Amino acid sequence: MTEEIVKSALSKVMYPGFTKDIVTFGFVNTITINGTDVSFNVEITSSAPEVAQQIKDEATQELTTVGATNVVANIKAPQIPRESSSKGKNLAPHVKNFLMVSSGKGGVGKSTTSVNLAIAFAAQGLKVGLLDADIYGPNIPRMLGVEDIKPEINGNKVLPIKAYGLEMMSMGALMEPGQSLMWRGAMIMKAIEQFLRDILWSELDILVIDMPPGTGDAQLSLAQSIPVTVGLTVTTPQTVSLDDSRRSLDMFKKLDIPIAGIVENMSGFIAPDTGVEYDIFGKGTAGPMAKDFDTKIIAEIPIEMSIRTGGDEGKPITFVDPTSASSKRYAAAAATIWAQVEEINANGGVSNASVQPTTPPGVSACSTGAAPAKAAPAPQGESCGTGCGCH
Ligand SMILES: Nc1ncnc2c1ncn2[C@@H]1O[C@H](COP(=O)(O)OP(=O)(O)O)[C@@H](O)[C@H]1O
Ligand SMILES: [Mg+2]
Repeated sequence: MTEEIVKSALSKVMYPGFTKDIVTFGFVNTITINGTDVSFNVEITSSAPEVAQQIKDEATQELTTVGATNVVANIKAPQIPRESSSKGKNLAPHVKNFLMVSSGKGGVGKSTTSVNLAIAFAAQGLKVGLLDADIYGPNIPRMLGVEDIKPEINGNKVLPIKAYGLEMMSMGALMEPGQSLMWRGAMIMKAIEQFLRDILWSELDILVIDMPPGTGDAQLSLAQSIPVTVGLTVTTPQTVSLDDSRRSLDMFKKLDIPIAGIVENMSGFIAPDTGVEYDIFGKGTAGPMAKDFDTKIIAEIPIEMSIRTGGDEGKPITFVDPTSASSKRYAAAAATIWAQVEEINANGGVSNASVQPTTPPGVSACSTGAAPAKAAPAPQGESCGTGCGCH
């Protein structure tokens, strides 16, 4: 018995419901042969027990036909359920999990991180949406190369735009290019609610939400509209960026959002011609902050030309060059985040009940000036602390 014989026998086993076999899908690994004893692992994407059983039965039959006497198939299926166990107000209940990507500042790579993590999640077999909630600087359409595509409208609902296996929606897709909008507090709340309620998102495993920079009305509205499963902070290594990132992490704590970790972006630069590494903005400086918030740096992404060109040209590095060092770091970060999401759900999920406004249903907290039930984070910049803006 050889590995070739085993593989060829296993390539006769179709993945239930598909026309491709388990070897072609890349599900088979670690084949061990001892005389005519054969054992192997099959990593499948379905949690249905009958799928695992069918593969086991057919694999045993095919291998017996080619002379194996003792067949052990270890089937590794994802945990059931992938469902969210989160509670509280949820304007998009068919979306199972929400990842809020925040930063203290603009320009640190929040959108770049959101795009590449979303693609990395999709590459792991998850059904992924990407919501560009940065109403001031909606860059996601360009970063996905769909800046000229207008979404289809279905009644008063809008279909998300599809790109790179993701569903995406952005204020940029709804506005004319170059147009600016002056956002007041109540409008921000409405826009965020519509992004969740009026966009026809599919049953998504995870919706990645690229937030505007800072800790203001958009962040509070989002946390009140959906139970955010985990929050991620993106920072660059300079002290001034770290100062603002602390506020972003503090906001997660005040909003009862579990912290997934920190992405240290623009962390060092490796010269492509010489391979010499330069710490342009520093490197590893987010470590103490991670410790203070009892979290981790889940990726250090260097300054890389193809990350920038990928953003400008709508060709994300994780899609066009998935084996590059940076793509692998995005993939590892996505795997870390997903493991946390599953753990959070296994432990009862999250709830946004404690951050709801105290006003009666139908009355806006903005019209009464009422504060949320829980002390909300002090919004920065243009807001005055009510979660409603103060223009
Ligand atoms: N690791 C990186 N290497 C090179 N360029 C980067 C990197 N991360 C982000 N950029 C570039 O920096 C600019 C700002 O990034 P962006 O994701 O738009 O930031 P934010 O959303 O925080 O405002 C973009 O032009 C982007 O392509
Ligand atoms: Mg951005």
